[in-house]
Amino acid sequence: MVGPIAGRPVRVAVLGAGTWANFAHLPGWARDPRCELVAVCDVDEALAKKAAADFGIPSVATDYRAVIERADVDVVDVCTPSATHFDLATAALGAGKHVLCEKPVAFDFRETARAAELARSRGLKTKLGFTFRYAPAMRYMRELVDQGFCGEPYIYNAYEQNSQWIDPKTPLRQVDVNADQSQIQVSSLEGYGAPVIDIARWMVGADLASVVGTLRNFVPERMVRATGTTMRMNIDDGDIFIGEFANGVIGSIQTSYVTVGNYPGIEVRLYGSAGAIIVRLVEEFGVAETIKTARPDDVEFKQQEVPARFYPAGGSARESWRTLFYANLIKDFLDELTTETDKNEGNFDDGAWVQEVINAVEISFRERRWTELPLPR
Ligand SMILES: NC(=O)c1ccc[n+]([C@@H]2O[C@H](COP(=O)([O-])OP(=O)(O)OC[C@H]3O[C@@H](n4cnc5c(N)ncnc54)[C@H](O)[C@@H]3O)[C@@H](O)[C@H]2O)c1
Repeated sequence: MVGPIAGRPVRVAVLGAGTWANFAHLPGWARDPRCELVAVCDVDEALAKKAAADFGIPSVATDYRAVIERADVDVVDVCTPSATHFDLATAALGAGKHVLCEKPVAFDFRETARAAELARSRGLKTKLGFTFRYAPAMRYMRELVDQGFCGEPYIYNAYEQNSQWIDPKTPLRQVDVNADQSQIQVSSLEGYGAPVIDIARWMVGADLASVVGTLRNFVPERMVRATGTTMRMNIDDGDIFIGEFANGVIGSIQTSYVTVGNYPGIEVRLYGSAGAIIVRLVEEFGVAETIKTARPDDVEFKQQEVPARFYPAGGSARESWRTLFYANLIKDFLDELTTETDKNEGNFDDGAWVQEVINAVEISFRERRWTELPLPR
């Protein structure tokens, strides 16, 4: 592992200056005094220039190669469309940079595993955009689980669902417009399933051993941003799977972007022999997150206060979830990069495992059967 970055700020270049970069990544870096944004790159130069002006970034580029080769860059942050992540992330690792990458690194888990291996061989740290494991309430839940609050874990349930694309007129992004429309394409399972599959292993403490699931396309035709037209889009806009974990826990995961409800629409539950915890990350009436717990003898769930130590500087449950959770993600990555530690949570290895589960659920749906994990290499 290359040594910690000490005695100077961590220098960051961001690739992609679109919606999510402006909502979450750029505010997160700008907020932490241990780093400085040195360059922003977008193939659309106007977007790169606007981000540079908004966040005080001195250098603008339209070609990522010019950015990743710079000697004064320590970290490359990939926040571009999903189909570009693998090429950009591996190019940055190849150039010797630590990488934060939006999920998924690649659509096939084997490619994500290759990117993880490249990072390992170079002693570099990686982080995936697993936004929701950094929610203060989720981190508090993890601490309670570690302390044995739930006892022996029995059942994990998770949802990520909201109504972001319930209206077919809302322009769809991150889709392959040339895909074969005669068969359903994985969509919500990947975009919305990934965070709660990641949290599943983190909370349950074991890998999934087998899964079975179904995908469904509810809204057949949609406006697509890339073509500017309404077209047939046979994508999974709703899905459910159940799974058996290697330690005997059973679980269910349900995701959709056509289900009425607000962003981000996450609910995670863990039930065990000594207690149960429910975290809701649903922005409702200005509050971004809640945590409730119950013991077998109380039965009723009581809302708990998330201790202040789980919040980034200046953060609170009344801040927008987009900036609040990402500020914690970036704070955690900067902790890992600036201190003498091998810790590197939510990295590309975790991304490869999450992608393997997604690939396994897809196989189970297409072949109408349970799928065992791990999948063949
Ligand atoms: N973790 C989360 O919670 C979360 C939330 C939203 C989006 N995302 C992910 O973030 C990524 C970006 O999503 P978005 O909504 O901002 O998309 P977007 O289309 O609004 O922005 C992507 C930007 O990347 C630019 N770009 C494309 N190719 C490039 C290249 N080779 N080099 C530099 N710039 C390039 C585009 O011009 C665009 O401005 C996606 O992978 C998406 O799935 C994650």
